Amino acid sequence: MKKVSIRDVAGEAGVSVTAVSHILNDNKQRFSQATIKKVLEAKERLGYIPNKNAQQLRGTKTKLIGVLLPSLTNPFFSTIMQSMDQHKPDDVEIIFLTTINKGLEENIKHLVEHGVDGLVIGRFIDKPENLNAYLNKHKVPYVVLDQSEDNGFTDIIRTNEHEGGKSAAKHLIDYGHTNLAIIQPYELMANMKDRISGFEEYCDACNISMPVKIDTELSKLGGRNAVGQIISKKVTGIFAINDEIAIGAIRALIDKGITVPEDISIIGYDDIDFAKYMNPALTTIAQPMDDIGKVALKLIIEKVEGLSSKTEKIELPTQIIVRETTQRLK
Ligand code: RIB
Repeated sequence: MKKVSIRDVAGEAGVSVTAVSHILNDNKQRFSQATIKKVLEAKERLGYIPNKNAQQLRGTKTKLIGVLLPSLTNPFFSTIMQSMDQHKPDDVEIIFLTTINKGLEENIKHLVEHGVDGLVIGRFIDKPENLNAYLNKHKVPYVVLDQSEDNGFTDIIRTNEHEGGKSAAKHLIDYGHTNLAIIQPYELMANMKDRISGFEEYCDACNISMPVKIDTELSKLGGRNAVGQIISKKVTGIFAINDEIAIGAIRALIDKGITVPEDISIIGYDDIDFAKYMNPALTTIAQPMDDIGKVALKLIIEKVEGLSSKTEKIELPTQIIVRETTQRLK
């Protein structure tokens, strides 16, 4: 079905397209009450919905930002999304899209064709050079979040991952655990590699044997599925690469009659909202998700407005939150 266009409204009201555009964008000063009335009535009659895409919004100086995230079910990403939405100024509109790896480039092209002014990319980028060339060609500034490599030519916002991994190891080792395991995803992103190297570096500095690594899906189910392999390894301390994996692993441990933290201590990463409400409450390394959202939004707006031309690398702090899933080895 053909959509009602601004031209149809102009024809129906007997005025120019420019007049309709000004009136519908609240630029009414130079029009008579009669003209305004005619346009608004024609709009109602035809059921015209203004197209909110960027080509039209540019006239009203609204900035359209596209945000691509790997998942909306993982609270890490939905909290960032919520923060951006809460902190956006009135002249900014945001389109959120989730994207699996293969769909990333297509989604970006789709957003660029729809006239976004800037992008925040939360998903790991497979071919950063190609994407950089494409976005530069179309003059679309972009900011990446933690999963991407710090390649030197992209603005990046991440947390101090290496330090975060170290804190997790220190906590388990301070509690007397020396048989350790890491549950990690099959596909390790740049930030997770840093997390793990911080963890291993600390083990090495303490002369503790290297942790056993169990590969799995980056999800609660992945955590649950990893537990079978852990039991046979006799570990007493687990570092889960994110809270979702930790939650799935704890469920499976309990189902197998293994008590957390009495038999096995487990520490997660992110500090998603559920962490403090679970039973036992999850010990974890907190990432400042609200700040990540705020800072990413501020930076992309500066880029869109041309206020910053230097490549930024912003590193936010992590913090250990000790709750109930870890305890001293008896
Ligand atoms: O939970 C999702 C993970 O992917 C987080 O740890 C975050 O750092 C993101 O990259």
